[in-house]
Amino acid sequence: MGVKRKAAAAILVLLFFLGFLWLQGGLDYHWDSCLKGYNQVDKLHHLSNSSGADGANGSEGPPIQENCPGQNFQVSLLLSHLLAAPAYSTDVLLQPYLSSWDELVKFMEALGPMVGLISKEIETKTSIIRQLALLAEENREAELGADLQSIHSVSTEVGTKKSLGASQHDGAYHSVRSMILVELNRGVVDFDHQTDSGCRTLLRLHRALLWLKLFLEKLAETPEAGRLRSPSELCREAYKTTLANHHTWFVRRAAELAFIAMPERGFFFRLVCTQDQEELNRVLSRVVRAIGEVYNRTQKALEENNMLDLP
Ligand SMILES: *[C@@H]1O[C@H](CO)[C@@H](O)[C@H](O)[C@H]1NC(C)=O
Ligand SMILES: *[C@@H]1O[C@H](CO)[C@@H](O)[C@H](O)[C@H]1NC(C)=O
Ligand SMILES: *[C@@H]1O[C@H](CO)[C@@H](O)[C@H](O)[C@H]1NC(C)=O
Repeated sequence: MGVKRKAAAAILVLLFFLGFLWLQGGLDYHWDSCLKGYNQVDKLHHLSNSSGADGANGSEGPPIQENCPGQNFQVSLLLSHLLAAPAYSTDVLLQPYLSSWDELVKFMEALGPMVGLISKEIETKTSIIRQLALLAEENREAELGADLQSIHSVSTEVGTKKSLGASQHDGAYHSVRSMILVELNRGVVDFDHQTDSGCRTLLRLHRALLWLKLFLEKLAETPEAGRLRSPSELCREAYKTTLANHHTWFVRRAAELAFIAMPERGFFFRLVCTQDQEELNRVLSRVVRAIGEVYNRTQKALEENNMLDLP
């Protein structure tokens, strides 16, 4: 216990440095203030629950408890968003993708202040994409409005509704591949310098997703023999082989130290409403599979467009 206390104290100090560095490396400040106002009126959110109810039972495996009382994070909700994201044969829909992140952010926030700090950074990233989608939508509607005015003699009430409705389903930020295509065509993806393009932002989320996937995978594992390892050890290990490759030396040290303060395994049982390791394994395995599908599709789309190293 004493060690943990000391570690916690050390972390508090490092928190400030890390927060500073993480943001420095992350994105420009001017976005923050401009995005805050939009977080609440997030138009993309309203569609996310249309896919919410059916996923929890899933297509395979036993049902997952719908509602874990007394907490923000709901694993059933996460799973249903994840299952709703893959679309067509190789694409990923951005709305459920971002909704999955909303739920993962709640998961991270439950793990304590340090990991919560990382989740703040992720929230900013999801906001950037949502904001870009909103802008694209507004531009589209404005263009459409102008078009309709110029041909107002033909445009009927029904016609207007139809075109506006359709734009939500084929807009630039409808899916990962549509976003990549549109941003490439508009020349907003910079392969040499840091920008706030949706593609670049998606890549950051994508890398973090691999870390969480690996962590959950490790957490679900039940060793044939020997003891279960502590979540903090597993999280550090997952970090080392994923996100750490993209972080500076200092951030790596701080992050690894931060994972010491992670809750024990019993906490994760409660977090996903399971009684024991076997149940945890069952629930997390389904989540990991769903993340894997989303991750693989995103990876392929980014890879095909040489976007795995966007600055
Ligand atoms: C969607 O959300 C609204 C408002 O939060 C709620 O009334 C409705 O039941 C939800 N629909 C589904 C399918 O979950
Ligand atoms: C979920 O699955 C269980 C058993 O597999 C079934 O009894 C229940 O009706 C299903 N719920 C929904 C909403 O499909
Ligand atoms: C994702 O890709 C990896 C490596 O190519 C593969 O091992 C894994 O089975 C894939 N996962 C899913 C869910 O398709």
